Amino acid sequence: MQRLVIDGGRRLSGEIITQGAKNSALPILAAAFLPRGQTVIRNVPRISDTYSAMRILTSLGCRIRAEGNVVTVDGDGCLSEISEQLMREMRSSVIFLGAVLGKTGRCVLSYPGGCELGPRPIDMHISALKKMGAVITEEHGRLCCTADNGLNGVSIALPFPSVGATENIMLAAVCARGETVIKNCAREPEIADLAEFLRSCGADISGDGGGTIVINGGKPLHGCEYTVMPDRICAATWLSACAAAGGELYVKNALHRHLDSVLSVFEEMGCQLSFGNDGIYIRANKRLKAPGTVRTMVYPGFPTDMQAVVMAAVCKAEGSTVFIENIFENRFKHVGELRRMGADIIAEGKVAVVNGVPTLYGANVEASDLRGGAALAVAALSAEGRTELGGVKYIDRGYENIEDVLSAAGASVRRIG
Ligand code: EPZ
Repeated sequence: MQRLVIDGGRRLSGEIITQGAKNSALPILAAAFLPRGQTVIRNVPRISDTYSAMRILTSLGCRIRAEGNVVTVDGDGCLSEISEQLMREMRSSVIFLGAVLGKTGRCVLSYPGGCELGPRPIDMHISALKKMGAVITEEHGRLCCTADNGLNGVSIALPFPSVGATENIMLAAVCARGETVIKNCAREPEIADLAEFLRSCGADISGDGGGTIVINGGKPLHGCEYTVMPDRICAATWLSACAAAGGELYVKNALHRHLDSVLSVFEEMGCQLSFGNDGIYIRANKRLKAPGTVRTMVYPGFPTDMQAVVMAAVCKAEGSTVFIENIFENRFKHVGELRRMGADIIAEGKVAVVNGVPTLYGANVEASDLRGGAALAVAALSAEGRTELGGVKYIDRGYENIEDVLSAAGASVRRIG
């Protein structure tokens, strides 16, 4: 099992170029199943989740060519079953359901099991697709979905602005007869990126970024060339690394308009921020101040994906920080590992209280999910001594070559095993 060896206490400097957004590339790769002809997708991050998505497209009959961060998809695949093994590789592969069902009238996949963050239900996905005319049954953990007469556009009001449910409905609706209205939809930037990709293929979609998306389905979809947006969570992770380790860093391609709720927390922590025309500059030259209470919310609120990473940065801050995790049931698994490094954190239910300590100490710690792993790496940068971080496979799901990125900015991080 691979591990990262991190020697803390080194300040960061220089520039980090933000990779393409994992949570945009994944639904866009699923959407690339739809158009006839060839689609070229640029700025696709080289991470295990996108490799899994490419394997799923191949298993659905698409021809894939990946060269660096450019993925070419020949969308003439028309198979409709996704193996259990592929479904288990990546929980969010349920995002293929809407596209495969919409294009082929059928989709068989495994119920995406729970993951490190707790049960990951898909009830909103299922009820919306049923309302569009799909017949969905579950047999021995396999979901069998059919739409023998195709799908019909409908008006759907989501009980919660689920990102995945919004994306699945969008991907089904572009293939459906008539108009689909998605009320209380997710507003994340990745939703707008997916909508823009689909418009580039000829789809008629409007309202993305707001609370209601309208799709006029049934338009013929053709291949296109598209560039995935920068990854706002990776960008904020590098900002947090600099806040924790100290130093000055330019995070290139970070779009500050996507990060307002996170940037305000960094400013409350005493970091100095400024904005270039193509990135964000951060300076952290003194002990951080605790930012008060951090509540995770749907976009444009503070993103749940940044909870662990910001928690790592405030472990040595002056004062106490309260984190309230409102989105996922079980997203404090990094707390125990941070405590092994000397952090003073108490977590109960959806609340964690971090009392800042003067020093963290390098330790042997283990990642058990993607953002929790990134958080442990951030904490290790600010710790005294050496940290060995196991479970690198979780970090590799969302961060391209994290050791190279951080080392190029002055940190001492190497991969062993
Ligand atoms: C997406 O997950 C992201 N993943 C997550 O990023 C992100 O944390 C999450 O959105 C919230 O922003 C991808 O885009 C691949 P949700 P998703 O549906 O779509 C519940 C990362 O680290 N829910 O908005 O699964 C669900 O259990 C990952 O990059 C239902 O109850 O998120 C959760 O508690 C982690 N029923 C909440 O809603 C449903 O049918 C938010 O889930 C669907 C969701």
